[in-house]
Amino acid sequence: MRLTFQIVILTCLSSSFVKCSAVSEANKTATSDYRFNGPLVLCNFLPKEFIECAEPIDHKGNKTAKEELGYGCVKFGGSRYEDVERTKVTCEVLPEIECHGVRTFFRGGVPCIKYSGHYFTTTLLYSILLGFVGVDRFCLGQTGTAVGKLLTLGGVGVWWIVDVILLVTNSLQPEDGSNWNPYV
Ligand SMILES: *[C@@H]1O[C@H](CO)[C@@H](O)[C@H](O)[C@H]1NC(C)=O
Ligand SMILES: *[C@@H]1O[C@H](CO)[C@@H](O)[C@H](O)[C@H]1NC(C)=O
Repeated sequence: MRLTFQIVILTCLSSSFVKCSAVSEANKTATSDYRFNGPLVLCNFLPKEFIECAEPIDHKGNKTAKEELGYGCVKFGGSRYEDVERTKVTCEVLPEIECHGVRTFFRGGVPCIKYSGHYFTTTLLYSILLGFVGVDRFCLGQTGTAVGKLLTLGGVGVWWIVDVILLVTNSLQPEDGSNWNPYV
């Protein structure tokens, strides 16, 4: 008897909690006819497997552009959590998925990170084995310094070693602001 009572209380509590968070997070107009215990989930509550989101907008360093639009990325990249900018992106529910409410919405907390096929291990190997002709910097897209490195034969060896150290300490990164590809 007591156990049943507790279960009833728990169910009531959890359902009212779901109600609260649903109403506060979602567009109230869109949720006014929503049945909280019905089978349909609110569209903007769907996990990422059921939606398709756009890439974060790149403002290319223009802070005013970000303030005008209200979202997007001023800078891309960063390897530690607190260094990475976050923004919201537009997401759309996949066509076959049923859900309640507006099917296009914003989702926040998306990191401003992009990948363009640069691998840390490969670049490090290039740097160690072929650094004296600047292959590592050519690969990273830093053509100007790469040519300099090639013409001076890796700064007569010094630049060659310095770049290996810069790579290992994460100070030398792809020129286009992309991150190291995590899948080796
Ligand atoms: C809520 O949705 C309605 C249309 O469904 C829209 O007109 C209104 O601007 C939305 N409100 C907010 C705060 O997003
Ligand atoms: C930044 O964006 C704003 C608004 O889009 C634009 O007016 C301005 O010219 C941009 N500044 C630069 C330096 O591109």
